[in-house]
Amino acid sequence: MEMLHKRILEDGNALSENVLKVDSFLNHQVDPELMYEMGTQFKNYFKEHGITKIFTIESSGIAPAVMTAMQMNLPMVTLKKEASKILNGDVYQTTVHSFTKGKDYELTLSKKYVTAEDCVLVIDDFLANGEAALGAARLAEESGAKVAGIGIVIEKSFQPGRKMLEDKGYEVYSLARIAKLGKDLIEFVK
Ligand code: G4P
Repeated sequence: MEMLHKRILEDGNALSENVLKVDSFLNHQVDPELMYEMGTQFKNYFKEHGITKIFTIESSGIAPAVMTAMQMNLPMVTLKKEASKILNGDVYQTTVHSFTKGKDYELTLSKKYVTAEDCVLVIDDFLANGEAALGAARLAEESGAKVAGIGIVIEKSFQPGRKMLEDKGYEVYSLARIAKLGKDLIEFVK
């Protein structure tokens, strides 16, 4: 996605060989116009996949996911990283390990917002090791729903997430694929 590539090059900051900071338009301040364009790209790619619901993981996945949901005229469900007190009882839960943050969390979904008839598109901001997307897919499948694909804003292609998800049979579509990061260096997959 040209507009996103340009923005990453202009405003992204490679903190190390592994981490790209994009706080000014995705992770802290959010650029709604750019999010809208992301929604258009995801809709165009997944429009024939029979999707009935968009899932995302709090918090940075919400902006691109809601724009996609709006354009596809579908509901969006935010998967929680902690079971809130009001979500007691009827929930699906799965433990996700974040290698980037070095900790585990309980991804949580109320049973009210998914059924076995659903066909789910998972949208998230970053793909690193793929654990968050895999956890989201696990929760959807626990209810009997089908997972039609995984849409990612920024994929770090030098990390194992895409391969792991594809090996498990998931279709992955990323708007930007980063081949290499380093000091003053951001290189996209050609
Ligand atoms: P994985 O799901 O692909 O295995 O990734 P991992 O758990 O390792 O990532 C944990 C968190 O770190 C996620 O945010 C993810 O978006 C973020 N992250 C991973 N790599 C990068 C990176 O290079 N740059 C930035 N900016 N973030 C990265 P999170 O904890 O869910 O936070 P948030 O969604 O609340 O912002």
